[in-house]
Amino acid sequence: MGVSTSPAITVRPRAGGDAGVDVAVEDVRIAAPGPGQVRVAIRATGVCHSDLHVVNGDWPADQPLVLGHEGAGVVEEVGPGVTGVAPGDHVVLSWFAPCMACANCSAGRGWLCTGTTALANTLPDGSTPFAGADGSPLWPYLGLGTFGSHVVVPETAAIRVDDELPFTVGALLGCSVTTGVGAVLNTARVPAGASAVVVGCGGVGLSIVMGLRLAGAHPIVAVDLSADKRAMALELGADVVLDPRETDTGAWLQEQFGGVDFAFEAIGNAQVIETLPGMLAAGGAAVLVGMPRMGARSSIDPYELADQGKSILGCNYGSSVARVDVPRLARLYLAGRLPLDRLIDTVRPLAEGPQALDELASGAGLRSILTP
Ligand SMILES: NC(=O)c1ccc[n+]([C@@H]2O[C@H](COP(=O)([O-])OP(=O)(O)OC[C@H]3O[C@@H](n4cnc5c(N)ncnc54)[C@H](O)[C@@H]3O)[C@@H](O)[C@H]2O)c1
Ligand SMILES: [Zn+2]
Ligand SMILES: [Zn+2]
Repeated sequence: MGVSTSPAITVRPRAGGDAGVDVAVEDVRIAAPGPGQVRVAIRATGVCHSDLHVVNGDWPADQPLVLGHEGAGVVEEVGPGVTGVAPGDHVVLSWFAPCMACANCSAGRGWLCTGTTALANTLPDGSTPFAGADGSPLWPYLGLGTFGSHVVVPETAAIRVDDELPFTVGALLGCSVTTGVGAVLNTARVPAGASAVVVGCGGVGLSIVMGLRLAGAHPIVAVDLSADKRAMALELGADVVLDPRETDTGAWLQEQFGGVDFAFEAIGNAQVIETLPGMLAAGGAAVLVGMPRMGARSSIDPYELADQGKSILGCNYGSSVARVDVPRLARLYLAGRLPLDRLIDTVRPLAEGPQALDELASGAGLRSILTP
């Protein structure tokens, strides 16, 4: 199969530097896979706040992009030298395709890969598989660009999963779930019986709640501005929920439990991050999962951290090795141990992507899934 054309959701920077971006549904050309590359037909793609960060200018875009990085689909065609997947395989796409050659990849820490080109929004050889109708390049967001009918990705970004796994759930395994559950199991290594608070209960935060439940944490406290998100956190395993407009989370946790062992931030709000150490018991750890706008600063009290042995952990992609963690989480879902489908609010056509991004910005609803 050669070049094909189909609609995708794009963002194009407006002329004049900091003037923001235009979001559109437009016809995009998709190339055939090159050496080491795989062409995947997208069956479902989730709308994540990391897409919204580009749309709202938190992370300024300097290239025109095909948006989307949380997707699952079916391998349609493989390029020369691809041995790990074949046409017809069901795959989850990983937005942090490791280079498999740097020191961190060699040490089995692919989430810390320093050779990946994903963050530069290109394929590993610096190219893009996408072009606009006029032939000018469009770049794959986080090396994927899942908000369309097809992607062309390096073999290392296409993770084979069980055919029984619904594509909607597979899409969430591409980002929010692997990040959130991984933050608990890999980054923080929460032991059974540890206490925890999760601040922000969107797709990532609710995945953290599910991960804490799986790990046997207790009590699990969940905080969100939205009553719907708090209700879902209770259903998914939180023991207590708090509205931060009514309750000072840190003061309440200190009064009730003398602080908690782990405090997860899943919003990306620099002011909220500043309040995490105050939620912890001595020896506790704050885990930064939410990603703030570029350049944001948070201030901490270093005396408190040193004196009380508190720590702050950064968390990229749930400290996950996608090839290991994604199939593992898929099996837990299929075994009924992780009710990941509960995160899905609406499944809607790709053309409604801009509306889904607006709803995510307003905090309404749970995860939206788009289908091409
Ligand atoms: N570390 C990683 O590798 C990684 C991966 C994926 C996403 N992220 C980041 O995680 C963050 C969350 O992503 P998401 O898709 O779950 O977003 P989301 O928009 O679905 O969820 C954010 C939640 O925070 C709540 N919230 C907002 N302000 C709040 C406040 N002051 N107090 C309490 N709750 C508040 C909202 O109501 C919403 O439920 C984003 O910053 C995203 O970029 C990081
Ligand atoms: Zn690497
Ligand atoms: Zn994401």
